[in-house]
Amino acid sequence: MVVSNDTELQALKEIGRICAVTLNRMAAAMEPGMTTRELDQIGRKLLEDAGAQSAPETCYQFPGATCISVNEEVAHGIPGERVLQPGDLVNIDVSAVKDGYFSDTGASFVIPPARGKADKLCRDGKRALWVGLNQVKTGRPYAKIGEAIGAFAAKNRYTLIENLASHGVGRSLHEEPTELSTWPDATEKRIIEDGQVFTIEPFLSLGGQWAEGGRDAWTLLAEPKALTVQYEHTIVATRNGPLVLTLAE
Ligand code: CO
Ligand code: CO
Repeated sequence: MVVSNDTELQALKEIGRICAVTLNRMAAAMEPGMTTRELDQIGRKLLEDAGAQSAPETCYQFPGATCISVNEEVAHGIPGERVLQPGDLVNIDVSAVKDGYFSDTGASFVIPPARGKADKLCRDGKRALWVGLNQVKTGRPYAKIGEAIGAFAAKNRYTLIENLASHGVGRSLHEEPTELSTWPDATEKRIIEDGQVFTIEPFLSLGGQWAEGGRDAWTLLAEPKALTVQYEHTIVATRNGPLVLTLAE
């Protein structure tokens, strides 16, 4: 959606904050021995207490309130009986709706004690997201986002998953503009409109180039197999840059 008044902006800030707080509290609650279903139930309760509903469940009948992807899983992992272990790389993706407004955020974490490689990958994944965010401004080409993230990844010898794109969000979970590349994409010609609400969510990897399904109807794995992280914010484009909606404070 394109924000056209303050009522819309306030509603977007509210659901953005709810998603961010839910993600942070889930991350803080993670510990070895817990199942991903138990972690998901913490997220579900936080969303419910805030008057919000899980977006993937509402929109796509996803079997969980949040997506929890562990190690070899890149995205859309189903919460279940998997027991979290020390050193696991865990991605939590929280998207939710309140009063008809949607927001979407995600982050990857290592359960202590951290393995060196995974820890650095997390730090650089966060940097990759901010490299993309810093390209956002009313009137600029969307292509700049993928170009900048691509340059960052190449310089630091990472790969990017090139079939999981960012997207418009606001009145639904996925809406126009769809398929926003977080990698260099010569076919991307669209221009960022003032007030446009969308996500940036690069998937930075130690070698993965594609996300592939297979295990079940949802879970995506990196191909070739490699550790991968994702960091995602929902933003509003303004003349002064991005207004990040999915910050917890
Ligand atoms: Co997401
Ligand atoms: Co998203």
